Amino acid sequence: MRTRITKLLKVEHPIVQGGMHFVGFAELASAVSNAGGLGIITGLTQRTPELLAREIARCRDMTDKPFGVNLTFLPTFSQPPYPEYIQAIAEGGVTIVETAGRSPEEHMPTLKAAGITVIHKCTSVRHALKAEAVGCDAVSVDGFECGGHPGEDDIPNMILLPRAAEELRVPFLASGGMADARGLVAALALGADGINMGTRFLATQEAPVHANVKQALLDATELDTRLIMRALKNTERVLNNDNVMRLQQIEKEKGSSLTIEDIHDQVAGVYPKVMRDGDMDAGAWSCGMVVGLIRDIPTVGELISRIMADADRIIRQRLSNFLDETLPDQQTL
Ligand SMILES: Cc1cc2nc3c(=O)[nH]c(=O)nc-3n(C[C@H](O)[C@H](O)[C@H](O)COP(=O)(O)O)c2cc1C
Repeated sequence: MRTRITKLLKVEHPIVQGGMHFVGFAELASAVSNAGGLGIITGLTQRTPELLAREIARCRDMTDKPFGVNLTFLPTFSQPPYPEYIQAIAEGGVTIVETAGRSPEEHMPTLKAAGITVIHKCTSVRHALKAEAVGCDAVSVDGFECGGHPGEDDIPNMILLPRAAEELRVPFLASGGMADARGLVAALALGADGINMGTRFLATQEAPVHANVKQALLDATELDTRLIMRALKNTERVLNNDNVMRLQQIEKEKGSSLTIEDIHDQVAGVYPKVMRDGDMDAGAWSCGMVVGLIRDIPTVGELISRIMADADRIIRQRLSNFLDETLPDQQTL
């Protein structure tokens, strides 16, 4: 399958693995890239630019295919040293960066001077247009169903993607709610050039996380995610657990006077406890509604080849059969 995204990113399949805190290590990024997609190392999971440089080198030892680095611009006062992170990325020979959180405008001159292809992940058409205007090469459009931060507009991909297609000139990825070939083909039909997946890649053999995390994804349904931090305008979609219920109780009691300090225990330092130690109730961690479509823990290679083979079948058989009047019955998926 060839799309504007496979061409831009020089990958075989139009499938990208979005940055994931304490998940996007070299093991997962290289596995996705080796399988013909684009793997992404999560920049800020590495506490310093020096550690990121080491992680990039480790990834390079595991794949000779292109891979990227995610740079999440956080809404915090203590800002990570982004210019130094960008320097580590450029010096490590990485040519693709996924930005997220806030507009990458301030850093575009440095990124572009280093010859880096920038994919900005955002949750609205206006932010996507802004990304295009400041020189991003592509965008990832994250719908309301996504794991992580869906923004504050609550527009699901069935609307957001065709709206993005109407307005954008740069290629774009459908992000949020993607797990299989049905999602990929639907995304292409809605105007996207490929897909970005988070939660689905978490449920793979190579995802370097505790087995409890993968089991929790198998056990959960599409009804098990919750939105938190709405009052802080920093909404996050997470998997429900004891601490998330406690957090929601605090949110209810505090209402619009909620501050981040009120929920510090439920959101700070949670990721290593969940992802590394397998403490599933440690606090709030991102998970998409698509968890309801996850029923196995394949290797990344199996997952990607299954998606591409099924997409071929859906397009050539199921969809084209709808146009063939000689066939009496449509087969199911
Ligand atoms: C566990 C987890 C951690 C994530 N961490 C980040 C992050 O640090 N930075 C970021 O830009 N996106 C992060 N995301 C969002 C993903 O990159 C991706 O946009 C999202 O998962 C897509 O929705 P999906 O989960 O429905 O596939 C995270 C998602 C998950 C599930």
